[in-house]
Amino acid sequence: MIKTNCNLLVIFGATGDLARRKLFPALNDIISSKKLPKNTYLLGCGRKKVDHNIFIGLDKSIKDESTYLQLNPNFYDDFINLKNKIESYNLKFKMVNVIFYLSTPPQAYTNIISKLAKANLNNESSGFRRLVIEKPFGKDFESAKEINNLLINKFNENQIYRIDHYLGKETVQNILVTRFSNTIFNSLWKNKHISHIEITAAESIGIENRGEYYDHAGAIRDMFQNHLLELLCLISMEMPKSNTSDVIRDEKLKVLKKIKKINTKTNVIRGQYIESEINGRKFSSYRKNKGVNKVSNTETFFACKLFIDNKRWRNIPFFIRTGKRLPTKVTEIVIHFKNDNSFFKENKSSNNVLILRLQPDEGILLKFDIKKPGDKTKILNKNLEFHYKSLTNEQIMNAYERLILDVFIGDTMLFARSDFVEEAWKVVDPIIKDIKSNKINLLGYKSGTWGPEESNNLFRNKNTWRYPCKNLINDGESCLL
Ligand code: BG6
Repeated sequence: MIKTNCNLLVIFGATGDLARRKLFPALNDIISSKKLPKNTYLLGCGRKKVDHNIFIGLDKSIKDESTYLQLNPNFYDDFINLKNKIESYNLKFKMVNVIFYLSTPPQAYTNIISKLAKANLNNESSGFRRLVIEKPFGKDFESAKEINNLLINKFNENQIYRIDHYLGKETVQNILVTRFSNTIFNSLWKNKHISHIEITAAESIGIENRGEYYDHAGAIRDMFQNHLLELLCLISMEMPKSNTSDVIRDEKLKVLKKIKKINTKTNVIRGQYIESEINGRKFSSYRKNKGVNKVSNTETFFACKLFIDNKRWRNIPFFIRTGKRLPTKVTEIVIHFKNDNSFFKENKSSNNVLILRLQPDEGILLKFDIKKPGDKTKILNKNLEFHYKSLTNEQIMNAYERLILDVFIGDTMLFARSDFVEEAWKVVDPIIKDIKSNKINLLGYKSGTWGPEESNNLFRNKNTWRYPCKNLINDGESCLL
């Protein structure tokens, strides 16, 4: 008997790192939360001939139904095999929906996309055909445009899901709720009341075994062009007219278009971690990693100051930094409010600060002043704090779990649109151009530090970066690797 429909998840690069580390665990989570659509099957594709079950680790309910197909993106015949395989499901199901997930090195994208189209596997007459691609989306504006042109030529924009996994994070989605659902924040969200904003995405790990990829990317392409610019847009965009995918994506795009060209001479700091020792433990330098050029000029730390030239943000600096081998793993946005109150000027301990902690110890912290008990004139700065973990015992949904489910549902809101990707490269390209012509120094920094000390010079006043720790409430302490 012919059942109604089935879903086929085709993963290119199924024997790779990303599939094993992120996609299979996310599928397991979807299964255990009973959200996987009925009749879903997994078809793993890869160049390698495998003699073992690559689906080991997957939940039994999907593992037993999964198959592997050896496929070389260079060979069109292999795509015909894939097509036949997909068509074999048509014997059992009326409609066969297919998700093509490109979990391969980006060099394979062009081949896979054009051969899928040549084999007519983009045709949606017998079920939807969706294409998921992972960053990096190109290495500069030109190459991104090339991939986008190819994609748009062969697929419709609503069939394309460009993954920026930061958008799948629960706490990242909460940025818009915090801003737009709370009058007390929303009404103050502008240059009249905010003095500056920090965005930090720090990692304590090095580049692990990704030397070959990372040495061609560096922190600017790996983190700033995508995750950090997405965060910047969410924190600074105007309130969208509706909570729908394209309207939100339109507003983010407007922010990117208003970013002033970054002054690379004064407002950019690049660093690379050098050999170091912490408490007797040795950490090797970036250049010693497998796959990395021995005299590599690639940055593992990037910090910049930028301005958004619109009415809301004119003259307000945004300080953005990211790096590997920093003291702790933390992603947070820090909003510093102005201190306009002259009444308690003498004793004012510090300004109001709002910290949106995206990970770990996800939560929100607001620093505010109170009168010191017993003392008529002294003021103390205290914390109001909220931690997600106090909400529920359930784990927060993992980013990949959220995004894969959205592909099944067909919701593009949390995915990067082609115009966003291209506009983001326009912000980054001038920096890359100046690096290529040796106009931006590369500074060394030790593992376990907050990158080159010079990154504090970006402030040019008494302010500095916040030095966050693993726990939201702590800062200014030293956190060792
Ligand atoms: C990836 C980068 O996109 O994001 C990695 O390629 C980085 O270099 C990772 O480690 C960070 O993601 P998360 O979710 O751990 O903050």
